Amino acid sequence: MTGAPRPARNPLTAPVTSLPRPAEDAALDPEAMRQPLGNAWYCVGQSRSLGRTGLRAVELNGEQIVLGRAPDGIPFALRDRCPHRGMALSKGRFDGDTLMCPFHGWRFGTDGRCRDVPTLSEHDAADFSRIQVQRFPVCESAGFLWVNPRLGPAAGPVAAVPELDFKPAGSLVVELVVEASYDLTTLSLVDPGHVAFVHDSWWFRPSKQLREKVKTFQPVPHGFVMTSHATTTSSPVYRLLGGVPEVEIEFRLPGVRLERIRAGEKRVANYTFATPLTPDRTLLTNALYWSMPALNLLKPIAWPLMRQFLTQDQQVLQHAQDGLDRKPTMVLFGQGDLPSQWYFRLKREALESARAGRAFVNPLEQRELRWRS
Ligand code: FES
Ligand SMILES: [Fe+2]
Repeated sequence: MTGAPRPARNPLTAPVTSLPRPAEDAALDPEAMRQPLGNAWYCVGQSRSLGRTGLRAVELNGEQIVLGRAPDGIPFALRDRCPHRGMALSKGRFDGDTLMCPFHGWRFGTDGRCRDVPTLSEHDAADFSRIQVQRFPVCESAGFLWVNPRLGPAAGPVAAVPELDFKPAGSLVVELVVEASYDLTTLSLVDPGHVAFVHDSWWFRPSKQLREKVKTFQPVPHGFVMTSHATTTSSPVYRLLGGVPEVEIEFRLPGVRLERIRAGEKRVANYTFATPLTPDRTLLTNALYWSMPALNLLKPIAWPLMRQFLTQDQQVLQHAQDGLDRKPTMVLFGQGDLPSQWYFRLKREALESARAGRAFVNPLEQRELRWRS
């Protein structure tokens, strides 16, 4: 959408006629703003996908990473590249103590240090103890593995990994690769305007009418939250819970959307994570958790619906990416697009604070937004 430029009323409502231009800020590397944040936690798959002594290769922000789990259950993440001739270590074996490269048998500890070069003669003075594979921080939370690729400058605390604040009786996970950039995909997590047009399935949105929405947003560490409200939606999904559910939706860097639904004692959480694989491929992971054992019966029905929902995003994002590839500008317009502008402000602050070696200061303020959806 385009229109005559209007005077800016407030920095948050100023129409943006192109992608944010960090080039104007001499202090910040303009390229950095176009990349996913280097120092942040990204979801790299379900915890249960990583068994004891098994290895798994994952892609993250252009890096190839091998994940494994030590016998004590603690996961580790190493660059999936043997320093000798570049072989993928994930193709080798892990005996619970060392990973063995399948090319010439070099062995590495879970800390990445070379432990053995079996082809070395006893009379060879070469010292392998200084050879090392890069190790990445890894942790587990909410049933997922999280890796911080730690590229770029070190910084203060980064956004926490998402946790679940109730014990789920069941969960469903859908993962889908989107052929689109990290920023474009992540914007869909904070974009209320697309829901009525993209997610118009009968089971999610039976009404085709656009309705006026008024919601209060406030800053939270590394993000913002649409504060808990009694939902007015006619969605059968919400009706399943009975009563009038309260919904709270949080966004936090780098690309995490946490929807928490509460109806009395009943709890449902719908978490969505964006993970950059390469500059033009992004993984979307959607995890639905519930506290009511009876809902486990609905799993066979819910899984295809959830997949359909994510596929709707996937399709539209891929077409939009084609358009952005031809001309990489966006018009972020009106209050419904403010959360998208906030995403770029949060990202910029993460980069600037890291560059200056200071703490992240959330640049957002509490604010009421109005839009139709
Ligand atoms: S490439 Fe790994 S041991 Fe040679
Ligand atoms: Fe969507």
